[in-house]
Amino acid sequence: MDWGLKNRLSRIIRSDGRTVMLAVDHGYFLGPTSGLEDAAKTIGPLLRHADALMPTRGVLRTSVDPQSDTPIVLRVSGGNSILSELSNEGITVSMEDAVRLNVAAVALSIYVGSPNEKKTLLNLTRLVDEGTRYGIPVLAVTAVGKDMVRDARYLALCCRMAAELGAHFVKTYYCEGFEKLVRTCPVPLVMAGGKKLPEFEALELTYNAIRRGAAGVDMGRNIFQSDDPVAMIQAVKAVVHQNAKPKDAFDLYQSLKQVKRVAKKTRVKGVTASREELNKH
Ligand code: R5P
Repeated sequence: MDWGLKNRLSRIIRSDGRTVMLAVDHGYFLGPTSGLEDAAKTIGPLLRHADALMPTRGVLRTSVDPQSDTPIVLRVSGGNSILSELSNEGITVSMEDAVRLNVAAVALSIYVGSPNEKKTLLNLTRLVDEGTRYGIPVLAVTAVGKDMVRDARYLALCCRMAAELGAHFVKTYYCEGFEKLVRTCPVPLVMAGGKKLPEFEALELTYNAIRRGAAGVDMGRNIFQSDDPVAMIQAVKAVVHQNAKPKDAFDLYQSLKQVKRVAKKTRVKGVTASREELNKH
């Protein structure tokens, strides 16, 4: 791996070999997803807590502070909508624009077993060729879709194929037998969060994936649709980076949420808790 590529990847997957990526790219085929209607408002307070942010270029340019040093994993595939065949994706951003946006990696979806399998796999190989030319790693996103059978056999097929075709890291879903995916995939695997779950269950899911070898998560709805997104991302980070047990992480989530409630109350009484004070909790 070339130095630039390694350097970019190490900004995303931290020195402990783990990462908490915040996925906010849903609008590229879903439109104004719940929780992301005002992307700037959602992303703003979460940005400094994320190890990396995964937006589209439209959201990056309009809704993300350019002074932030959170690495960007840019969604560069699309061309469909929720109303049509989901797998019919092309590459939507040139590598030149990705460089202009100073991204740390680019991400695209592959649709193994779909009518557009070949097209999306060739999208991946093209992106890997271009990424390698510019030192930009490629994240392959597997198994997006409503009616997928996300079992270990299928996901292992997707992840291994993505790695064989050159992806530098792979995003996939949790399943029974997740360790098989990890064992048979020679590049780091990050777990997608999937649909919104109660906070404790989402933390359990994260814990199980990490325990079975995931390099982290690329989570969206379970963070930004949480009752308290900032508390939730910190709880997810405790699991990913500190191996916190789900119960401890959930306690952390609740106490951070409580601190915010108390701070809000004290503000109402005319006392303002400082940001530093709140961050201690
Ligand atoms: C889906 O195509 C997007 O890439 C999302 O980034 C992905 O599904 C992860 O988000 P969530 O945790 O909400 O499933």
